[in-house]
Amino acid sequence: MKILVTGGAGFIGSNFIRHILRTYPRYAVLNLDKLTYAGNLENLADLESNPNYQFIKGDVCVSADIESALRGVDAIVHFAAESHVDRSIADARAFVETNVQGTYNLMDSARRNRVGRFLYVSTDEVYGSLAPGDRADEGFPLAPNSPYAASKAASDLLARSFWHTYAFPVIITRASNNYGPYQFPEKLIPLMITLALEGSKLPVYGDGLNERDWIFVEDHCRALSIVLHDGRGGEIYNIGYGQPVSNLTVVRQILRILGRTDEAIEFVTDRPGHDRRYALNAAKIERELGWKPEVGLDAGLIRTVEWYRSHPDWIQEAKSGEYREYYERFYVNRGTSLAEI
Ligand code: NAD
Ligand code: TYD
Repeated sequence: MKILVTGGAGFIGSNFIRHILRTYPRYAVLNLDKLTYAGNLENLADLESNPNYQFIKGDVCVSADIESALRGVDAIVHFAAESHVDRSIADARAFVETNVQGTYNLMDSARRNRVGRFLYVSTDEVYGSLAPGDRADEGFPLAPNSPYAASKAASDLLARSFWHTYAFPVIITRASNNYGPYQFPEKLIPLMITLALEGSKLPVYGDGLNERDWIFVEDHCRALSIVLHDGRGGEIYNIGYGQPVSNLTVVRQILRILGRTDEAIEFVTDRPGHDRRYALNAAKIERELGWKPEVGLDAGLIRTVEWYRSHPDWIQEAKSGEYREYYERFYVNRGTSLAEI
């Protein structure tokens, strides 16, 4: 099988490519990535000499880049996106361009070229903020609240329309918050780990009681591979761990692993429109495809902290350049509300 992966130089995409080439050594993977601030070829340095892996620098918004990449591929796994909620609050333009127009562009070319399978990697954020006790199954109403979530939901619905209108063989997955190696240190877990490692304060938004259903990235990648092989066209599969926990619980756990006290926590101005709670019902993928998560939060956090602790050069590179400016605006200068930036 020849798979085109978009956004494979990012966090989940790089873990997915590694998972596929380890599990299916005869598969060929073509990675098309624009290499934005979030894309880093170092994430795949161990695969550079693998004859079944190829990288192409390209933009999903540019038809010429896509047309040459998808010739002869059996399947597309579409990760490429702008993925950080805070950045979407500051400026949503790139989110609409890549996540909506780019996804349309890619699906349209894939349909015209008769690509046999297309996996759209969506998110549980399309369901919006859930009431205590609720869990979203695949039929739960969509109510995206951030510009990021709205851009993902727009393409999620476009994908649905392509199935119904053209019988385009698309499958949608909606995963909860991922964590693990190679995640850019702007998202909660890698940001808190890297700040704790350098002895800085850890900025927790609001009261810290917002809940997320954290899934270890390798569990997510295994689920995506199962859906790619055995999922049914036109279907949606939720992928989550199933135990929402508060941000404070996660941050305290990271501090404990690193031997630091809770005094490092600093409560800062809340994110505008901050979703209180995400919680998934992932019974369908377990029932139909036999997938279950294997890595619990405690074990996953220990592995993640160890990875960051042993990759200081990777952290330093990620935190240089454009990130430094972003970080200073958000955290050093945090009297400024995000909406004003
Ligand atoms: P990421 O930000 O780490 O990586 C995104 C990658 O896409 C980068 O390599 C970037 O260079 C590339 N990219 C961006 N714009 C592009 C464009 N126009 N053309 C080609 N490449 C482009 O993101 P991630 O956390 O790995 O997320 C991957 C996908 O999974 C996204 O679609 C995201 O919405 C979805 N998702 C993420 C999570 C999560 O917790 N991180 C959860 C559920 C779903
Ligand atoms: P994030 O990793 O940005 O994922 P998402 O907003 O897509 O769920 O944030 C996870 C949670 O952590 C969310 O409730 C916001 C919170 N958070 C903080 O409290 N401080 C931070 O510095 C960041 C980046 C996030």
